[in-house]
Amino acid sequence: MLIFNTKNDLSSYLSSLTDPLIGFVPTMGALHDGHLALLRKAKKQCSLVVCSIFVNHTQFDSKEDFNSYPNTLSSDITKLEKINCDLLYVPDVSDLYAIDEKAKHFNFNGLDPQMEAKFRKGHFDGVATIIEKFFNIIKPHKAYFGQKDLQQLLVVKQLTKQLNLPIEIVSVPTIREENGLAMSSRNKLLSPKHLETASMLYKSLEFCKANKGNFSITDLKNRIKTQFSEQLEVDLEYLEFVNSNSLQTISVFKENGDNAICIAAFVGRVRLIDNIIF
Ligand code: PAF
Repeated sequence: MLIFNTKNDLSSYLSSLTDPLIGFVPTMGALHDGHLALLRKAKKQCSLVVCSIFVNHTQFDSKEDFNSYPNTLSSDITKLEKINCDLLYVPDVSDLYAIDEKAKHFNFNGLDPQMEAKFRKGHFDGVATIIEKFFNIIKPHKAYFGQKDLQQLLVVKQLTKQLNLPIEIVSVPTIREENGLAMSSRNKLLSPKHLETASMLYKSLEFCKANKGNFSITDLKNRIKTQFSEQLEVDLEYLEFVNSNSLQTISVFKENGDNAICIAAFVGRVRLIDNIIF
């Protein structure tokens, strides 16, 4: 695997190649099986796979969250080599941002006033700013995003459309721990006890899906809220029942697979998100 630290070296290498089909997997490192699923799919569909590792400060609304983001670069490199990733881009912040450069402002067509955008102010402006930069440097044919971050996935699709870029955004299903907890780099920050407790996010989503014919959405919401309020170390931030394409709130389930339930909660000091689509 070739490792590049600057956008100039990376893009001049890429332009020296003849007609590669480029698959791009952007990450913030602390790689887990969820990332490896993105990379495996990219390897299957593309002739050249580029992964990036960059903890993008402009998408964090809390310094504490940014500073505590796990950094496991040497084991990440081992994992990437094992999976035959072709190129890794690990830039320094100065390679991507000018001094004091802020995130650009975007409008995502109704996808961004709710959920993650509501609770993490400016988050998607930061994500879109860095993704636009990466797309301009790497010019991938396909880019891979996990369904775990459903709102991010839809925002990136919208961004690609707005910028009129010829990039296919490929969605990859969520990979889970044995207890159902969605894989996330933040899981590394959970104590063994909290790793177990955190499975209640997915269990709640599964409960709602299994009981969609038995209770109204309002009743399901209230039941889950009550369960969370009984757990001292868990703090439910939101539980939203939405259309899985528009993210607009729904009040009844549809039969067509367009239903999504999205959840965010703190387990101890660690903020986790998850969703289920059915
Ligand atoms: O999902 C992530 O890890 C980040 O939001 C991304 C897409 C790498 C942008 O920084």
